[in-house]
Amino acid sequence: MKMKLLVYLLLFAFTISSCLHRCFARGGMQSSILSGDFNRSSHASYARRLFLDFNSVTRLSELAQGYMTNDELGKAIKEFGVRCSNISRIYSIGKSVNGVPLWVIEISERPGEEDAKPAFKYIGNVHGDEPVGRELLMFLANWLCDNHLKDPLATLIVENVHLHILPSMNPDGFELRSRNNANNIDLNRDFPDQFFPINEDENARQPETRAIMNWLRDIQFTASATLHGGALVANYPWDGTQDKRTNYYACPDDDIFQFMARIYSHSHYNMSFSKEFVEGITNGASWYPIYGGMQDWNYIHAGCFELTLEISDNKWPSAAELPTIWKYNKMSMLNLVASLVKTGVHGRIFSAVDRRPLPGSIMVSGINYTVRAGKTVADYHRLLAPRDRYEVMAIMPGYKPKSTTISLNEGPVTFNFVLDPEDTIKGIEFADIFWGVHLEVYFALIVILGFLCLIFKGRMKANVLKQRQSGGAKRPAMV
Ligand SMILES: *[C@@H]1O[C@H](CO)[C@@H](O)[C@H](O)[C@H]1NC(C)=O
Ligand SMILES: *[C@@H]1O[C@H](CO)[C@@H](O)[C@H](O)[C@H]1NC(C)=O
Ligand SMILES: *[C@@H]1O[C@H](CO)[C@@H](O)[C@H](O)[C@H]1NC(C)=O
Ligand SMILES: *[C@@H]1O[C@H](CO)[C@@H](O)[C@H](O)[C@H]1NC(C)=O
Ligand SMILES: [Zn+2]
Repeated sequence: MKMKLLVYLLLFAFTISSCLHRCFARGGMQSSILSGDFNRSSHASYARRLFLDFNSVTRLSELAQGYMTNDELGKAIKEFGVRCSNISRIYSIGKSVNGVPLWVIEISERPGEEDAKPAFKYIGNVHGDEPVGRELLMFLANWLCDNHLKDPLATLIVENVHLHILPSMNPDGFELRSRNNANNIDLNRDFPDQFFPINEDENARQPETRAIMNWLRDIQFTASATLHGGALVANYPWDGTQDKRTNYYACPDDDIFQFMARIYSHSHYNMSFSKEFVEGITNGASWYPIYGGMQDWNYIHAGCFELTLEISDNKWPSAAELPTIWKYNKMSMLNLVASLVKTGVHGRIFSAVDRRPLPGSIMVSGINYTVRAGKTVADYHRLLAPRDRYEVMAIMPGYKPKSTTISLNEGPVTFNFVLDPEDTIKGIEFADIFWGVHLEVYFALIVILGFLCLIFKGRMKANVLKQRQSGGAKRPAMV
């Protein structure tokens, strides 16, 4: 009797489970779609291949003649916009205290369009007396324009990223040869701080700071870097500590920040050989804590993973050295932008009802940080360091959360979430389908079980007879 029951149960469970499996498969369980936008096979071992050679001799531009004045920089940006019009656009995010426009170059296959691609920003010349960045960013823009469709890395960036370049955030400071802006304020101390109530008054903030903050309300950047001078190191959050001590102070995304900082330092000519900083990278607070900095504010308030890059020991080297410094930083600058598409999990969030994009959020188990999906396209770009296993969850008010497990050891993953609404109508529909199918299966099951029952009865009888005849040997059958 027990044996019979067991067989029935097993059979029942098996049939139900295979039915359920099919039901769900038919119902459109959303499966992961690997490698959407880029050639995954060629970027599989990105961590190693990111560090491409920079021995290729760079064609040095005429820009080497000297540091551009603010007027010359403005002119160079406009000329770039004309020369490279099909993959760029020029816009201003505001003006400095003295009225100099803060020009931005966007480089992308479809500049200005909202699509499912991540955005990266470079900001140079935050401190007026650190002008190397503003020159290097013009080298970078020109190199990308010249090498699009010729060099695979240039093409990858143009086709998969919206790269925004602000060569000078502090043109007045540059003109005055001063660290601070024209109001004598350090712009990298002028942002709201996470620990101390400084810079809370929005109207008291500098126009350059306000311009950056409004820019980030307008465009959702996945990652960014600011270029500084006076040291050679890639600096990552946190920049500040609660107790004002100089200590390593890790943010929730310490792993990916270290990974990105390493991409920069190891792609650089000699940043990773630093004697002062292991591998040429440092946590900001373990170097020297700052408050009101741009880097922490980006991560906390703008969902943007920002590094602070110190790109030359000498703050204001002779202009003749600029082409060499560009050569030293070129692969780092390119690889950091490319890391946006070569790491992490990317995709979009949709509604299961009408396939509408849902501007939800992405959470990763074990990391206390939420990444928002884009407002219109609902694309998300969650940078994560390579690891065997991540549990990634999409949430949206009014919808049931959905999670998935991914591995990022083989490179980036593309995964689209399709969320079911929380309302009851959907629940009833599902129940109808379930019971409809269930009845059919139930009928088939009765027939099968009846049949099996007959067979078993026959067998059992035969066995009992046999055992009786053979004298009942008791060796259990082991399989
Ligand atoms: C993708 O990568 C493979 C392997 O490296 C290469 O053979 C192929 O040409 C690449 N395709 C494109 C479109 O780049
Ligand atoms: C942009 O223009 C250049 C030169 O005119 C051309 O080679 C390139 O194919 C164009 N790129 C795009 C994305 O249209
Ligand atoms: C990197 O190279 C430059 C130029 O040769 C040199 O001045 C600097 O000290 C080097 N830095 C490190 C950390 O090796
Ligand atoms: C997660 O981060 C928020 C700030 O973003 C903080 O208020 C909260 O306490 C953190 N939770 C945990 C469990 O650390
Ligand atoms: Zn600086």
